[in-house]
Amino acid sequence: MKRYLMTPGPTPIPEKITLSMAMPIIHHRTDEFKGIFKETVDLAKEVMQTKNDVIIFASSGSGAMEAAVSNVLNKGDKAITVNAGKFGERWGKIVKAFGAEAIELTYEYGDYAKVEDIEKSIKNSKNVKAVYIQASETSTGTFHPIDEIGLMLKKKYPEVVFVVDGITAYGAIDVKTDDWNIDIGITGSQKALMLPPGLALLSVSEKAKNVISKNKNNYFYFDILGEIGAKAGKFTPAVSLVIGLNASLKMILDEGLDNVFKRHEILAKATREAVIALGLELLSKRPANSLTAIKSPLNISSTNIILKMKEYGVDISNGQGYLNGKIFRIAHLGYFYKPDILMCISVLEMVLKKMGYSANFGEGIKRAMGILLDE
Ligand SMILES: Cc1ncc(COP(=O)(O)O)c(C=O)c1O
Repeated sequence: MKRYLMTPGPTPIPEKITLSMAMPIIHHRTDEFKGIFKETVDLAKEVMQTKNDVIIFASSGSGAMEAAVSNVLNKGDKAITVNAGKFGERWGKIVKAFGAEAIELTYEYGDYAKVEDIEKSIKNSKNVKAVYIQASETSTGTFHPIDEIGLMLKKKYPEVVFVVDGITAYGAIDVKTDDWNIDIGITGSQKALMLPPGLALLSVSEKAKNVISKNKNNYFYFDILGEIGAKAGKFTPAVSLVIGLNASLKMILDEGLDNVFKRHEILAKATREAVIALGLELLSKRPANSLTAIKSPLNISSTNIILKMKEYGVDISNGQGYLNGKIFRIAHLGYFYKPDILMCISVLEMVLKKMGYSANFGEGIKRAMGILLDE
């Protein structure tokens, strides 16, 4: 059966990228690889819209999250963590794991962080060293107002290190690392970068580097300054994935960042409006353009919708935590185009009808076609 992967990571991989990784492996301490590595880092800076250093870990995205905590916070330091979903919750867990104090700002799943809450929390807590947040909270499909938060920090608390997990944002949504004052920006390979899992990227500002240089916490492999100082990774880099990353970043830049963001915006709009036309409800109050989280209609478990979609070869994602069975998530980040959305919406409509939800049958695909025809 033909498979259609519409999950928020891993995401489909373009043939060109797969082929680039199929070449015979080369040694990582050669000039050839050092050249590829340096070029890849430079391309990553362009995609992440930063002049800061960018490092690449051979790990999943959570490795970079861990590095951004262990390298920045000492035991006993205070940090604000925004918990508006499963990945925000992870920030709190990592901060605590390294003996620091997580001041958790908790929001209902689907809600987004408010700049004034963060400002108030820093003011009330005193000596906050860092703020940890997601750009796009993948468990709820929500985009936090990173621009507003970054600007507030720059104006009022310039000493606070601003750490943004942009794992389902970079390469899909316009995240301006430098303009938005992001000290540490994080992404992972298996999302909008259209690669297999296994790489985590991290941008580091001069301010963050200065804070890290005074750090006394324990870490070994996830050594940010050590990686910056190394020519092509401090340890053996994931050679083939780095070569794939080089191809992926070139694909993104060849299309043009603005075009890439626009494509994601249109696909997200078509998905959102199609499900609304079907009479379904979005989970998020501030939806991200990288994925759409949809509430399951009354009495139908989203787990069953997902299983039925799978019978057609279409893989979408369930809700996480207490949202399991209650929502389903359709991803449109990375290697996605208009026909992918049309396919997914029509299969969803057929599945819902078979399950007894026949309200507005045909209206979703009609709405999606209308949007995609115009844009
Ligand atoms: C926003 C966000 N943060 C962190 C992670 C964790 O990344 P990984 O599973 O690569 O460790 C994910 C993965 O889905 C994510 O979407």
